[in-house]
Amino acid sequence: MARFRLLLGDSYWRVSTLMVASVVAGLIEAAILASVAQAAAALVDGARRVDTAIGPLHLNESITIMLAVTFGLAVVRLLLQVPLSILPARIVTITAAKLQRDTFAAFTRASWAEKASALEGHLQELLSNQVWQASQGSVAATGLISSVLTLATLVFTALLLNAVAAAGVLVLAILLFVVLRPLNQLAARRARGLSQAGMNFASGVGEAGRLAEETQVFGVGTAQRQRIDQLVEQMRGLYFRTQLLGRLVPNVYQSVVYLIVVAGLALLHAANAGHVASLGAVVLLLVRAGSYGQQVQGSYLGVRQTWPYVDRVLGTQRHYLASVPVTGSRQLTHVRKLAFESVSYAYVPNRRVLSTITFDVAEGETVGIVGPSGAGKSTLVQLLLGLRAQDEGRYLVNDVPVEQFSSSDWTARFAYVPQEPRLMHASVADNICYFRPLDHAAVERAARLARIHDDILTWSHGYDTLIGPRADAVSGGQQQRICIARALAAEPEVLVLDEPTSSLDPQSENLLQQSLRGLKSEVTLFIVAHRMSTLDICDRVMVVADGKLEAFDTVENLKQGNAYYRHATELARGGTSF
Ligand SMILES: Nc1ncnc2c1ncn2[C@@H]1O[C@H](COP(=O)(O)OP(=O)(O)O)[C@@H](O)[C@H]1O
Ligand SMILES: [Mg+2]
Repeated sequence: MARFRLLLGDSYWRVSTLMVASVVAGLIEAAILASVAQAAAALVDGARRVDTAIGPLHLNESITIMLAVTFGLAVVRLLLQVPLSILPARIVTITAAKLQRDTFAAFTRASWAEKASALEGHLQELLSNQVWQASQGSVAATGLISSVLTLATLVFTALLLNAVAAAGVLVLAILLFVVLRPLNQLAARRARGLSQAGMNFASGVGEAGRLAEETQVFGVGTAQRQRIDQLVEQMRGLYFRTQLLGRLVPNVYQSVVYLIVVAGLALLHAANAGHVASLGAVVLLLVRAGSYGQQVQGSYLGVRQTWPYVDRVLGTQRHYLASVPVTGSRQLTHVRKLAFESVSYAYVPNRRVLSTITFDVAEGETVGIVGPSGAGKSTLVQLLLGLRAQDEGRYLVNDVPVEQFSSSDWTARFAYVPQEPRLMHASVADNICYFRPLDHAAVERAARLARIHDDILTWSHGYDTLIGPRADAVSGGQQQRICIARALAAEPEVLVLDEPTSSLDPQSENLLQQSLRGLKSEVTLFIVAHRMSTLDICDRVMVVADGKLEAFDTVENLKQGNAYYRHATELARGGTSF
């Protein structure tokens, strides 16, 4: 029922108007069919007037007047097509937009762990194709309402005209609907498979797009094509079967209804019951009812076929919302101290990647983080930023557990520069501002601090220069510094950089070192360092190995007492970074 409500756009007045319009359209159609049949029978008989009983009503009218009234009714019916078309169109677009909005809203609110675990291309597929398929359920649901009501009205009128014939056909038509039920269920199952195949296809295509360069260089286009072909084939098979059922079931329904109508007529003829004109009207009504019956069958099937999509979209929304991190309402006006107390974290149960980490960092300190690849540095950074919550232990800021702070205060104090710079297809200024209400002065100040201001001034449109979707025109070092400017623009108190120099040429690295040196007095800095030279500016350095904090000391002390650090420094002196 909840699904059905959603598909109907959650609007009672629209649905009620649609229902009223459908019933009126049905009544008018019944009146038109009945009067056309009567008039035709009278004309055949050579009469000038129609003199007949329609159920309880007795009718005695000239054919001219009857046709004029019927014409008037046909015009009204024509006008009714306006609401009958506008309302479903409104409802389907409202449903689609609501699904898109709500799903994306749920995604933005979801925890980082949830977002990070999403497969490539899934969000796009969900928000475009799956939502589109789900909203086709709205088309079917409104169609179902209209056709059920029109059908009911026609059958009701037919019952008035000739109760025996209409009731017989009605019972058989309902029986037929029940007989076709397994086919409906089969169609729903196929649709579920198709929805899943759509998700697989999206992640396959997303990955193929991302790895297009590798695929071309390694000359493995054929293998890549075969992989996608397989996914296409899987979709095609399921798509064919859903399309087939979607057409077959309603068409079978209508054809069998015709059989029933003709058989019913033959029976009446054999029993010699009823006046020929009223019988003609009943037949017309029942034949029309047959095609509305087909519409009911088709719409019902359409609704059933879209449920898997609705379920997937709503299920994903629920899943996202269940992950929304708990935050408090405590103010965080100034970060004086950060501390981990025996903090542990595991991505999968019982496999800790960080284990009982304990440290204190004071305001204004510059802290380096080093350790071999896979040691847990990036995980530590995500915990520091509050993107993930520790499984055990406590994370305190100003001696208060971080869960208690309001999320807006938190995000205003903490900033981050990722390992891979990620830019939007927008101007440099917009990339630095990044949706926050910052003025140009703040943007320029951040750009100067990040040592990118002078570069920007040499570009054709300065701060308004557009950066392409792949940021090809901007060097890696410049991209990195734009990201640093973005992180600094809202004047954070804590800045975390994950291996900022890993992909830089020596000259860019030098510029970055300068900018980091400039930041030392501005913020509390955490730098995951790839190159030992980065660590020269650090007050203290954490050595993370195998998920543990092996040492946390000054560079001088580490050089003396820490084997990993000494080894790494020697390698670096030999010209190797690690
Ligand atoms: N999203 C994830 N799911 C499961 N395991 C992960 C995930 N991210 C990282 N890991 C694992 O956690 C460990 C630490 O990874 P990471 O923090 O990225 O290390 P580093 O940044 O020091 O290279 C590695 O063994 C890695 O495989
Ligand atoms: Mg890392």
